[in-house]
Amino acid sequence: MSILITRNIPEPGLEVLREAGVAFTIGQRDEEKGITKESILRAWPGHRVLLSLLTETVDRELLLGLGSDLLGVANMAVGYNNVDVVAASEMKIPVSNTPGVLTESTADLAWALLLAAARHIPQAHAYMTAGRYGIWGPNMYLGADVGLGASGRRKVLGIVGYGRIGRAVARRAAGFDMDVIAYGRDRGPIDVDPQATFAELDDLLGRSDFVSLHTPLTDATRHMIGRDQLESMKSTAILINTARGPVVDEDALVQALRDRQIAAAGLDVYEKEPAMADGLAELDNLVRLPHIASATHGTRGRMAVIAAQNALAMLAGHEAPNVINAEVY
Ligand code: DGY
Repeated sequence: MSILITRNIPEPGLEVLREAGVAFTIGQRDEEKGITKESILRAWPGHRVLLSLLTETVDRELLLGLGSDLLGVANMAVGYNNVDVVAASEMKIPVSNTPGVLTESTADLAWALLLAAARHIPQAHAYMTAGRYGIWGPNMYLGADVGLGASGRRKVLGIVGYGRIGRAVARRAAGFDMDVIAYGRDRGPIDVDPQATFAELDDLLGRSDFVSLHTPLTDATRHMIGRDQLESMKSTAILINTARGPVVDEDALVQALRDRQIAAAGLDVYEKEPAMADGLAELDNLVRLPHIASATHGTRGRMAVIAAQNALAMLAGHEAPNVINAEVY
């Protein structure tokens, strides 16, 4: 009875499995390569739990291929849009995620992107690296104020998706004297949240100087930010996405950034990740990162530990601590 780990995970997770004396196989050890469905199926015989990453599509076909030996899918991510949970539930297969532990690192990175996009940090860094800095210039790299700045105006941060991560992003805004408005399904707690006021999406987009996305990817949030929404934003606004790529219509974003309909954007995630929509790579008003919001030693280690603990529980036939579809038990 062992665990098939699709791709190599951080050492603390492997340590949990070793300490438990449970055998495991790593399907793909090359950090720069993914693993195909066929390779997962080829490696599967003899295993009972699949520990997957967000890079694997665990769809109905794969679940069926893994067959009746499959005791569970432990996904090492808080997002689980890569797993067909409906199909898994029909087959009575538990699926788990790694919630909570990446809240703070993701909020930090959303702010890093916001500041980098507002103050042209990647462009200025590249300029220095190229040895082009000859003389200080009063018009060099003029960006947008994030805090009060010389105008003394409080900037408005709009947070779309006001769960754990959205709230952590809002908390950081206090240090910048910002007003936070939030949009989320769960209106109740927002009404009494001391750090944000609730707004409908259109209203939020029209009023915000910065918009940060923190919603999971579902049928309801796919292309939630499209052409119309981008058009309704201020021409000085900056859009940040550390959630999931398909929440934004990437072609519409390319157009909006090209036409300077909005000032800039910062992306950590992409609609067809790792590919970028045509034109995205060339934009000079976009900061691009390779999905590193949770990439700190501490967070990724903890995610691996949680995924391993979920996998061990599944293997032992116990309820996984972070099961998403508890109804299967
Ligand atoms: C997740 O866990 O869903 C994140 O996107 C990983 O960074």
